Formats: sequence, C-alpha cells, structure tokens
Amino acid sequence: MDLYEYQAKELFAAHGVPVLPGRTVETPEEAGAAAAELGTAVVVKAQVKTGGRGKAGGVKLAQTPEEAKEKAAAILGMDIKGHTVHQVLVTEASDIAEEYYFSFLLDRSNRTFLAMCSAEGGMEIEQLAVERPEALARVPVDPIAGVDRAKAADIVAQAKIPAAVADQAADVIVKLWETFVSEDATLVEVNPLVRDPQDKILALDGKVTLDDNAAFRHPGHADLVDQRTEDPLEAKAKAKDLNYVKLDGEVGIIGNGAGLVMSTLDVVAYAGERH
Ligand SMILES: Nc1ncnc2c1ncn2[C@@H]1O[C@H](COP(=O)(O)OP(=O)(O)O)[C@@H](O)[C@H]1O
Ligand SMILES: [Mg+2]
Repeated sequence: MDLYEYQAKELFAAHGVPVLPGRTVETPEEAGAAAAELGTAVVVKAQVKTGGRGKAGGVKLAQTPEEAKEKAAAILGMDIKGHTVHQVLVTEASDIAEEYYFSFLLDRSNRTFLAMCSAEGGMEIEQLAVERPEALARVPVDPIAGVDRAKAADIVAQAKIPAAVADQAADVIVKLWETFVSEDATLVEVNPLVRDPQDKILALDGKVTLDDNAAFRHPGHADLVDQRTEDPLEAKAKAKDLNYVKLDGEVGIIGNGAGLVMSTLDVVAYAGERH
C-alpha cells in the first residue's frame, strides 16, 4: 500500500524524523483556518499518490490565511496524472538552503535493501540517475546488520552531503531506517530532504510503501487505507480475505492465491471477446 505524503510524514514524526507541522483538510475554508492556526506562511500541497505534484501545480506557497484559502480552492478537485485531489496538506513553509535526495528501498534484483542518497535533490530521481549517475550514491544495506550510525555516516559521505550537516543527516538516516524496518516498508523516500538556512535538516516530502504481506502485524495500518479511492467490490472482497480482481462489465475473478488469480485473469481475457 502506498501512503499519502501526510501519512508518510506522520510515520516519520513517530520515529523522530524532523518534519514541519501541518494539517490535512478538504475545503478551502478549513485550509484558511489551518493556516491561521499555524500562524506562518504555509505551503498548500495536493495529497495524491503520485509524484511530480509541484510541477503539476499541486504545491503552492501562501503568505496569509486568505491566500491559503484561494490556493486550496485552486488545488482541490484538480486532476494530477489521473488522481483527483480530495484533500490538501497545509504545512509550514520552510526556507530552503539546499535540497537533498534520500531513499531506502527493496532491491529485488540484488536480493537486498538499498540506500540511495544524493546532495543534488529536488530534481526527479529518475532524471538524476540518468543524467548524473555519479551524483547518486547507491549503498547496499545488509538486512541483518541494518543501518547504524557508522553505516549512515558512510552513506552521507558517499553522497557528498556537506560536512556542516553530515552528522544531522546521518541521525535522520538512522531514524528513516528505523521507520523502514519497524513499519515493514518496501520504500521510504524523502525528496527533498532539505537543509534550511539555520542548517537544520527536514523531511519536506515523504513517500512510503508498506508491505501488505506484513499487514497482520500492524493493526494500525488498516486505518491508513483511503476508502474513497478503493473499488467498493474489491474492498468488500478484501474484508472477506478473498483474492479478487474486478474486470470490465460484470466479470470478476476470485481465486486461491494471487498467482492463480493472475493466470485465470489471463485465460478469461484470452477467451473473452468485445461486445
Ligand atoms: N513545506 C515546504 N516549504 C517550502 N517549500 C516546499 C515545502 N514543501 C514542498 N516545497 C517545495 O515544493 C517542491 C515540490 O514539493 P514535493 O513535496 O517534493 O512534491 P512533489 O515531489 O510531488 O513535486 C519541493 O521540492 C520544495 O522545493
Ligand atoms: Mg517530492
């Protein structure tokens, strides 16, 4: 299950990763009230499970509560890469000195975990990996040894994070590893991880994918599911522990195990015809 940015950052905060205060709202009026409550300039951010929200116009700065209300009105209901914006995060605006990139992920082809880190964040990571691969440190992580202070310092050094904030960045990376492991995530990404003008490190964005196979040991994770975007039939099937995939029209597949469902799906699609 992919999480929204605000959910990812709530998990970060629970594990001691520094994030800025904010509130998720569903109307322009609530956005104005949230901005007034924060009492600072804010950023209004579309909550959709896709990247590139900034470029799509889904992240806007507002100096006053009135402006936050206007920005929220513009963003709510927007379509970003096929995702409708139902809610926005109103969060404190940060001054940014530098933007870094950081992630932990499951590296399936090498059968291990991987840390990716770069002092050149902000731009999309796929683009950075292609255009400036040498600027992106890729550090395998042994799942048994994990990430302690020394390992985190090694990642920070390989990514060429400036010395002034290296210790702090390493501390944050250890906490992100704790988040990754204890929440059973397959991805924890922070882009950008920023250095503010006071040399404080902050997670300004957050992307987390939780491993559904581990859901049984995280009763709290069920609350993170957004019923609004779930297919109602698939949600009903899930509640009954059925492996079910809905197809077009009046066809759906129920099978024993995901593999059988996939094969059956292929066979049904192959046998079917358009009408
Ligand atoms: N709280 C904030 N304060 C200041 N700038 C922000 C804040 N949140 C995001 N930004 C800016 O907006 C950009 C895009 O936001 P981000 O959360 O990374 O969304 P996305 O990755 O979907 O475009 C960031 O790279 C950062 O420059
Ligand atoms: Mg981002």
